[in-house]
Amino acid sequence: MDKNLNNVHEESSGNDIDLFTNYFDDDNNDNYADNGGRNSRGNGAKRPTGKVRIRWSAVAMLALIIILFVLLIVLIMIFKDEITKEVHKNDSSEQDVPAVVTTAPPVTTSETTTTTTTESSEVEPTSPFPVETDITVIDGVTYINGILIVNKTYSVPESFDPGVDPVAEAKLLEMYDAAADDGLTLWTASGYRTYDYQRELYEAYAATDGYDAADTYSARPGHSEHETGLTFDVNDPTSAFDDTPEAQWLKEHCAEYGFIIRYPKGKEDITGFMYESWHVRYVGEEIAKVIMENDICLEEYFGITSEYPD
Ligand code: DAL
Ligand code: ZN
Repeated sequence: MDKNLNNVHEESSGNDIDLFTNYFDDDNNDNYADNGGRNSRGNGAKRPTGKVRIRWSAVAMLALIIILFVLLIVLIMIFKDEITKEVHKNDSSEQDVPAVVTTAPPVTTSETTTTTTTESSEVEPTSPFPVETDITVIDGVTYINGILIVNKTYSVPESFDPGVDPVAEAKLLEMYDAAADDGLTLWTASGYRTYDYQRELYEAYAATDGYDAADTYSARPGHSEHETGLTFDVNDPTSAFDDTPEAQWLKEHCAEYGFIIRYPKGKEDITGFMYESWHVRYVGEEIAKVIMENDICLEEYFGITSEYPD
């Protein structure tokens, strides 16, 4: 191996630096490859001053490179967060809606619960009707919570003959007096009926209109509230009464005296009978006010049916 080259290697702080310096040093006017591995200034000529200059150039070059490298690293570190934020920002703006839905399941669950609660709060409260009932049958007569029940499902026996209920009659007359004070005249067109009398009425209607038609407005014997002594037909027991001031007054004030409009308009499928604006039934003030104020019928109040068995 060339001696000069060996000297260079021996005197250098590192082979890589010397070779690198020789290659780029313009003062050498050559490089290791071009001169076959010899220095162009002559074989074996030592130049201590030149070698110092060459090594300083190498150090300076290396230092510059290191500084630039470090500077680059620092710049990357500085702008790394900003670049990352910008990328994420763009991602979010493009996927705003799905991001909210898919990245926040706990919130979604909470919102669902809240929504459900909100929806529940917007839903009308559960109806208190039908009320809890206590049904008692005495001698073939059914009482629910102490109220005598007669309709197409519940009947009274032929032997049941109570006459007019004195309390109901007293309240009826009190109501008539109140109506009179308001300038209206109320009277009783039909009150208590015996089993036999109800049978005569029903058969007469059936003979005229047929049984199916009669069943919509006249009760079969044993199934008429008129047989309880608690019911009265006021004034004119026809549809002509419906739109009169007396009918309006009766509807507005009957509950104050313990009466209900027993067969309300719109409840025909529940009561089993056509609308009768004139037919009032005594149930007592407490229940009457609940039923009339809530626009329900007695069947809805107790949760019972009104259907003939056949
Ligand atoms: N008009 C009613 C339904 C009755 O006959 O008792
Ligand atoms: Zn009636």
